[in-house]
Amino acid sequence: MAVTRTLLWVFTFILSSLCSCDQMNNSTINLGSSISAGSNSSWKSPSRDFAFGFYRLVTGKYLVGIWFDKISEKTLVWSANRDDPAGKESSIKLSLTGQLVLTHSNGTEVVIYNGTSTNSALMQDDGNFVLQNSSSGIIWQSFNFPTNTILPDQALVMGQKLYSNANDTVDYSIGRYELEIQELDGNVLLQAFHFSNPAYWYTDTKGNVSIVFNQTTASMRVIFVEDNSTASNMTTTVRTPINDYYHRATINDKGNFQQLAFYKGNGASQWDVEWEAISEPCIVDNICGVFGFCTSPDNKIVNCTCLPGYSPLDPNIPSKGCYPKLVIDFCAPNSSNSQFTIETLDATDFPNFDFANLAKIEQTDEDGCRKEVMNDCFCVAGVFYRNTQACYKKRMPLVNGRRSNPNTNNMVAFLKVPVENNNLDHKDKKESPSSAVLLASFLSCSILAVLFAAIGIYQQPWAQRYIHWVLSCVRDGNLESTVSNDTELLSDYKRFERMAMVGVWCICSNPTVRPSMKKVVQMLEGTVEVEVPPLVDAQIF
Ligand SMILES: *[C@@H]1O[C@H](CO)[C@@H](O)[C@H](O)[C@H]1NC(C)=O
Ligand SMILES: *[C@@H]1O[C@H](CO)[C@@H](O)[C@H](O)[C@H]1NC(C)=O
Ligand SMILES: *[C@@H]1O[C@H](CO)[C@@H](O)[C@H](O)[C@H]1NC(C)=O
Ligand SMILES: *[C@@H]1O[C@H](CO)[C@@H](O)[C@H](O)[C@H]1NC(C)=O
Ligand SMILES: *[C@@H]1O[C@H](CO)[C@@H](O)[C@H](O)[C@H]1NC(C)=O
Ligand SMILES: *[C@@H]1O[C@H](CO)[C@@H](O)[C@H](O)[C@H]1NC(C)=O
Ligand SMILES: *[C@@H]1O[C@H](CO)[C@@H](O)[C@H](O)[C@H]1NC(C)=O
Ligand SMILES: *[C@@H]1O[C@H](CO)[C@@H](O)[C@H](O)[C@H]1NC(C)=O
Ligand SMILES: *[C@@H]1O[C@H](CO)[C@@H](O)[C@H](O)[C@H]1NC(C)=O
Ligand SMILES: *[C@@H]1O[C@H](CO)[C@@H](O)[C@H](O)[C@H]1NC(C)=O
Ligand SMILES: *[C@@H]1O[C@H](CO)[C@@H](O)[C@H](O)[C@H]1NC(C)=O
Ligand SMILES: *[C@@H]1O[C@H](CO)[C@@H](O)[C@H](O)[C@H]1NC(C)=O
Repeated sequence: MAVTRTLLWVFTFILSSLCSCDQMNNSTINLGSSISAGSNSSWKSPSRDFAFGFYRLVTGKYLVGIWFDKISEKTLVWSANRDDPAGKESSIKLSLTGQLVLTHSNGTEVVIYNGTSTNSALMQDDGNFVLQNSSSGIIWQSFNFPTNTILPDQALVMGQKLYSNANDTVDYSIGRYELEIQELDGNVLLQAFHFSNPAYWYTDTKGNVSIVFNQTTASMRVIFVEDNSTASNMTTTVRTPINDYYHRATINDKGNFQQLAFYKGNGASQWDVEWEAISEPCIVDNICGVFGFCTSPDNKIVNCTCLPGYSPLDPNIPSKGCYPKLVIDFCAPNSSNSQFTIETLDATDFPNFDFANLAKIEQTDEDGCRKEVMNDCFCVAGVFYRNTQACYKKRMPLVNGRRSNPNTNNMVAFLKVPVENNNLDHKDKKESPSSAVLLASFLSCSILAVLFAAIGIYQQPWAQRYIHWVLSCVRDGNLESTVSNDTELLSDYKRFERMAMVGVWCICSNPTVRPSMKKVVQMLEGTVEVEVPPLVDAQIF
């Protein structure tokens, strides 16, 4: 009897250890499981290609995310909290009630899924982290909430967006660029979403479309959802055999949408480009900031410098943009042509957005274009197109200055550069920005000027009405309504309000009512109240 019981016990022991052995290669995550930041543990896919857990940043903080786990680079493909990294004592838990919840060090809980009918979770081999119900039906999946990357097997549907990182290798928070399938018409586009400039790349597709990334062929295309037919091909060729590589498609911090492959075998160390939307990186909107100048001789690395007469806002981050070394009002009554020189920039363009052009002069030549720039006090630059013999006169602020091969080969730009040591600007020079704060403020100011100019409120008859509307919103403390479609701006609303009002100040057409640089800084710092900008025509108040 005792022997039988012992045998039974041994049998049960063996059986249960077999079970737990089995369990070890079973990737199912049960309710009640959790991971702590800094523990180095993660939930892996059966193949161990992907892991879900806390991804350590250079700052020492963590993102709840999914990454390629077998490669040395541990490339992050998804994150739940990209704009709010977690501290060391935080944890992610699949609770007994089925919630997927991130608990920050300070106790704040961020619910990623609310728990309804969750039975288990699984990190799938395709990189999709899923929550399942009792019949293994998927009730929540990371593929439905993409960040900057899509993977084979994943689709991007109408209305969904990918946002670039602020810095691909360092800062995974939302950056400058987005890829969007417009809900309005089905056009797939890349744009600098803080601005209202036109998209710098688009497919021109129309209908109910999706981007699908086929796992078998490792190719991406835009399809019509009605019948899966091709609306636009993206990937052209890929390295084979396809299964020897990891694949991903990412919008990078330079605003390019690329399909990349990483060799699974020994010795591989990098993601290689298989296909990319942008072949000339200087075409990307605002790539080098306001008053910046983009060059890229090899069309791979972007070189951001400043236009002649301008200095970098942050010498360590050239892409932030530049500020003028001297501020001169060329239209002041006592101004003269001796205050500036005209610099010739070969193979250079400033693009033709509506707001950027003062005028187009047809049938002229290079010298005529240069003279137009010299003699028009509102004009700061001009671009001569050799193939159409047209001259485009540009106004402030200058954005997207670029030398891009072959796009700008037939162009030449003329730039008005203030002459230093002119006693007329002595006062301005003393007030010119010196501290980092000052520079940053000027940037905000110029960006706002661009923003407002871009939405067309600059010197247009109907625009006055729009300004009045903005101003009445400012007065009523209701500026929020002017940005109701931009969640990015709303999330940092107070700062935006401040910047927007300063921006309105900065574009006041009458230079005498513009605030001094010092005042602008104080307004942005919050040390003086930002008043409602004084309009010459104040009847709306
Ligand atoms: C893994 O374990 C879960 C229970 O923990 C079970 O429901 C599932 O069937 C197992 N999967 C495999 C492939 O054994
Ligand atoms: C996690 O891994 C890092 C780097 O390999 C190591 O320095 C650290 O001590 C590990 N932490 C724990 C809790 O094991
Ligand atoms: C676990 O299963 C996967 C396939 O589902 C297999 O590739 C892997 O080698 C297994 N791991 C172990 C330790 O048995
Ligand atoms: C707790 O920390 C998180 C992460 O930084 C933050 O988002 C949240 O606002 C903090 N909560 C409180 C109550 O301070
Ligand atoms: C939880 O989420 C599901 C799916 O998003 C939704 O249908 C359900 O109403 C939510 N439940 C609660 C209690 O919020
Ligand atoms: C599980 O989810 C699937 C897919 O969402 C659904 O079809 C199925 O009815 C669900 N099963 C249960 C038991 O809720
Ligand atoms: C990203 O950060 C690295 C290291 O700090 C820096 O060298 C690089 O210029 C940054 N890239 C961008 C686009 O800001
Ligand atoms: C596109 O088609 C899908 C699937 O039929 C549908 O769910 C979605 O509502 C459609 N979107 C639009 C904008 O028509
Ligand atoms: C992927 O491409 C293959 C070959 O063209 C095709 O047979 C398959 O249906 C595609 N898969 C999807 C999910 O569209
Ligand atoms: C389109 O392809 C998907 C994935 O292969 C499939 O599930 C769906 O049924 C197809 N739709 C049509 C209308 O063929
Ligand atoms: C996409 O590529 C396929 C195969 O190369 C070709 O047959 C098809 O016509 C292309 N479709 C479009 C819309 O360009
Ligand atoms: C970037 O361009 C500037 C001006 O053309 C040049 O002096 C500099 O060497 C370039 N830098 C790189 C890394 O190519």
